[in-house]
Amino acid sequence: MICDNVSVNEKGHLTFAGLDTVELAEKYGTPLYLMDENKIRERVRIYKNAMQKYFPKNSVPEFASKAFSTKQIYRIMAEEGADIDVVSCGEIYTASEAGFPMEKAYFHGNNKTDSDIRFAIERGVGYFVIDNEEEMLALNNIAGEMGITQKALLRVTPGIDPHTHKKISTGSVESKFGIAIETGQAKEATKKLLSLKNIKLCGFHCHIGSQIFESEPFVTASEIMLKFIKDIKDTLGYTAEMLNLGGGFGVRYVESDPVIDYDEKIAEVANAVNRQCEALGLSVPVIHMEPGRSFVADAGMTLYTVGGVKEIKEYKNYVSVDGGMADNPRFALYESEYTVILASRANEEKNYTATVAGRCCESGDLIGEDFKITKPQRGEILAVLTTGAYNYSMASNYNRIPRPPVIMLKDGKDYLAVKRETFEDIIKLDI
Ligand code: LLP
Repeated sequence: MICDNVSVNEKGHLTFAGLDTVELAEKYGTPLYLMDENKIRERVRIYKNAMQKYFPKNSVPEFASKAFSTKQIYRIMAEEGADIDVVSCGEIYTASEAGFPMEKAYFHGNNKTDSDIRFAIERGVGYFVIDNEEEMLALNNIAGEMGITQKALLRVTPGIDPHTHKKISTGSVESKFGIAIETGQAKEATKKLLSLKNIKLCGFHCHIGSQIFESEPFVTASEIMLKFIKDIKDTLGYTAEMLNLGGGFGVRYVESDPVIDYDEKIAEVANAVNRQCEALGLSVPVIHMEPGRSFVADAGMTLYTVGGVKEIKEYKNYVSVDGGMADNPRFALYESEYTVILASRANEEKNYTATVAGRCCESGDLIGEDFKITKPQRGEILAVLTTGAYNYSMASNYNRIPRPPVIMLKDGKDYLAVKRETFEDIIKLDI
C-alpha cells in the first residue's frame, strides 16, 4: 500500500490507522474525512527531532495550518511543541480559542488589513511575517498605538522556481508574496524596517513552493538567503537571529511519487546551511521550517458512497460519489493526482478504469480521471487516500452542500473532531 497506515482486514475491507473504514462509514455516514492522529504526531516528531539534531538549539517546525485548520489540530500541535503558521484572523481565532499558546504563532499573508493587525496583536500573536512596505508601516503605527513592540520577520523572495505546479510555486521574483532580493528592494525594505521603533526585526522568511521531493531547492534557497543575511550584516550592521525556510516537502499521492525520508532531507539542508555559514563567517541562525502537507496529508482519507456507475460505450466509465469538489477541489484546481480504492472490497482485482465524479453541477467536478479500481456497485464505499492536507481547509458549500465531519483516529479508537454541517448551518447567515 502507498501509506503504512492503510491495509485490508479479513472481511476484505480497507482499514485506516487500524480501523475498518466500511464500519466508520456506517457509523458516521459519508462523505467522511478521517484523520490519523498518530501519523500526524509521528510526522511532527520526525521534523522536531531532525531539526533539533541538525540545526541550532530552538530550531523548530511551524505547522502551516492552512493545510488543515481545526481546534483539535492546534491542540495537537501545542502538545507536540510545534509552532504554527496562521494566515488569517479565522485561523488566529481558531487557534487561540483552542488554547494554543499564541506567542508561538507566525502571522503570514500578503494583505493584512488594519483590523487584522489589531486582532492579531490583541490575540497575542508572537510574530508577524511582514510581506510588504505598506504592511510594515501600518504595523508600526498600530503597534505604537497599542503600546507594544511587535516581533516580526520580513518575507523575501529568493528568486527560485522549484519546478512544481505554477499555482503552488511562490518563491520566484514575480511572486505576489514577499519582497525580491534580486531587485534590491528586500534590502531597502530591511533598512526601512530597522528604522521603525515599534517593530523588532528577528530575521527573514522565504517559501519557495510545495510538493518538493528533493532537498536541492531548499539548499539553493538557503544559500541565497544566507548571502542576503551576510550582505545585510555587512552593510546595515544587522544580524538576523532567525531564518525561516518555509514549507514544501512533498508527500506520496500515487505510487509513482518518491518515498521521502524527511530526516535525511532535513540533514541535507542543514549540512548546506552549516557549510554556507562557515564560508560566510556567520553564526548559524535559528532555523524554522513550515510544513503543512507533510504533517497531515497522508494522515487523511476521505470516504464516499458510490452512486451511479455509468458506462459510455466505447468512451469512458464514470463512478459518481456523494462528495466531490465541494470537499476536495484539488483536481479541479491543480489536476492533482490521488489513489482511489474500493474500500468495501479492497482485496479484489483492480481491473476497471473509471473517472470518479463528484455530485456538483459542474463537469470539472472530478476526483480524478482513469483510475484503476475494482468495479464498484451503488452503495459501496470508495476511499480516496492522502486527503489530509488542503481538503477540509479548502472545502466549500458550493451547491449548498454541507461539509463532511472530521473523525480523528487514535490508538485504534475514533472520535469526532468536527461535526457534519447541517442544512440549518447552511442557511444560518441568510436573513
Ligand atoms: N509556508 C508558506 C508561507 C506557505 O505559503 C505554504 C503553502 C506553506 C508554508 C506550506 O506548504 P506545504 O508544506 O503544505 O507544501 N492549496 C494548495 C497548496 C497551497 C500552498 C500554499 N502555501 C494545494 O492544495 O496543493
